Amino acid sequence: MRDIRNIVVLTGAGISAESGVATFRGPDGLWEGHRVEDVATPEAFERDPALVQGFYDARRAKLGTVEPNAAHEALARLDVEWPGELLIVTQNVDDLHERAGAKRVLHMHGELKSAWCLACDGRIPWEQTLADGPTCAACGESGRLRPDIVWFGEIPYRMDEIDEALGRADLFVSIGTSGAVYPAAGFVQTARYVGARTLEMNLEPSQASPFFDESRMGRAGELVPAWVDELLSGGGAE
Ligand code: OAD
Repeated sequence: MRDIRNIVVLTGAGISAESGVATFRGPDGLWEGHRVEDVATPEAFERDPALVQGFYDARRAKLGTVEPNAAHEALARLDVEWPGELLIVTQNVDDLHERAGAKRVLHMHGELKSAWCLACDGRIPWEQTLADGPTCAACGESGRLRPDIVWFGEIPYRMDEIDEALGRADLFVSIGTSGAVYPAAGFVQTARYVGARTLEMNLEPSQASPFFDESRMGRAGELVPAWVDELLSGGGAE
């Protein structure tokens, strides 16, 4: 097996579950009481902007009540200590990787703490509510800011960078994602194609489990710190 130098980590809602952030596909199939298509599509925003803005305003406000958990902290430690390339690609729109101290993070589905101005196309850091139609500091237009979130039917961010990193990867690790949403669900196959070793950590088998060399089942807060310890002490790198 080749030496591990370049690592791509993909994270999903499961890594933030132990912090108290709801996953997308709960047992009832609803996301915080809503059907995904009622709050996470451009059509939903056109139909009922107040509902969608209010939904994301509530998610943004909730961020102030949650903290990174042991899994975010372990990845932040990996970021500091790993001498090779590392890219943490997250599908999550929370800021828990950053708050744990990770720097090499890419939010492919956008961020709650960012707003996108439909008037000037600018993206600006955002902490407050959007439902009240605030003014864009860049262009001065009011009521044209939307959540900077990639909704279903929209193209995820920075796919070129992700593809390049996957193309160089020696190890691909997927944590807490159901493997139901493309293109992220297909990263494991790209990684396999370039000969990377592939590891999944999830509470239960995911739709993508059959594609991984190894699947570890359990809570991210326990599995991820153990894996980072193993990797930094030289295990898994031979
Ligand atoms: P999901 O809610 O679909 O899946 C979360 C996964 O995490 C499931 O497989 C759970 O079994 C697992 N899980 C839950 N708790 C866990 C824990 N403590 N430790 C480890 N694993 C745990 O979320 P995602 O796969 O992230 O997209 O969803 C992908 C995308 O679909 C989201 O980014 C979002 C959504 O609709 C957009 O909004 C565009």
